[in-house]
Amino acid sequence: MEDSIELIIQDYGGVFPTSRPHPIVSACTGAVLTGLYGLWSVFTMPGFRKIPRHLKVPYLPSSKDQAQNVMKLLQGRRGRLADLGAGDGRLVFAASSAGFQCTGFEINSILVAYARSKAYWRRIPSSQVTFVKKDFWKADLSSYNNVTAFLVPGEVLGEKLLKELPQDALVISCRFPFPNWPQKSAAGSGLDQTFAYEINSVRSHLRKTEMK
Ligand SMILES: C[S@@+](CC[C@H](N)C(=O)[O-])C[C@H]1O[C@@H](n2cnc3c(N)ncnc32)[C@H](O)[C@@H]1O
Repeated sequence: MEDSIELIIQDYGGVFPTSRPHPIVSACTGAVLTGLYGLWSVFTMPGFRKIPRHLKVPYLPSSKDQAQNVMKLLQGRRGRLADLGAGDGRLVFAASSAGFQCTGFEINSILVAYARSKAYWRRIPSSQVTFVKKDFWKADLSSYNNVTAFLVPGEVLGEKLLKELPQDALVISCRFPFPNWPQKSAAGSGLDQTFAYEINSVRSHLRKTEMK
């Protein structure tokens, strides 16, 4: 038995790695991977240090279908719109071309600069589109009657919106529905699905469930 095991080891000696990778190769691979992660996080998550870990959302742009679904849910609406975490501004530009006065709150200064430059080259006046480099958790949202968000909406975001938004506000969440909020409507399917919520209905629904 032992002889046959030795024979197998001899036969496969060229296939099974016989030695560990050289420590310098391992160190270099580790350094390159760490550097790539560092570069990725500098671009996608600058300014995030002060935000609690469970509230951090990195940059992921809305797809074309997702943006169209947002616009479907905004049909018939007007007024001021805030995009919470505006990224490169694509939802803001789409909403502004439908007549909304838009503010994009974005914490990533590279994305803010990029979105502002797009607004500049498209000659969109600041009365229609503004990009604010700000943590939206610290922004007062009480003057917005439309809010869009491609984030992971948890209870904390729900509480902020319920506390600050006017009664006639509409909230649109991309991809992720708000837990325990009654939906007004939804558009699209799968990863591009978007969900709309009327703040007055959400408030009265939550009041009723609290009373039970
Ligand atoms: C998933 S991306 C969505 C980007 C854009 N709204 C879109 O639909 O294409 C989320 C964005 O929110 C930004 N973000 C996350 N937390 C933020 C915060 N507390 N304040 C401002 N921006 C934030 C990220 O930098 C990222 O660009």
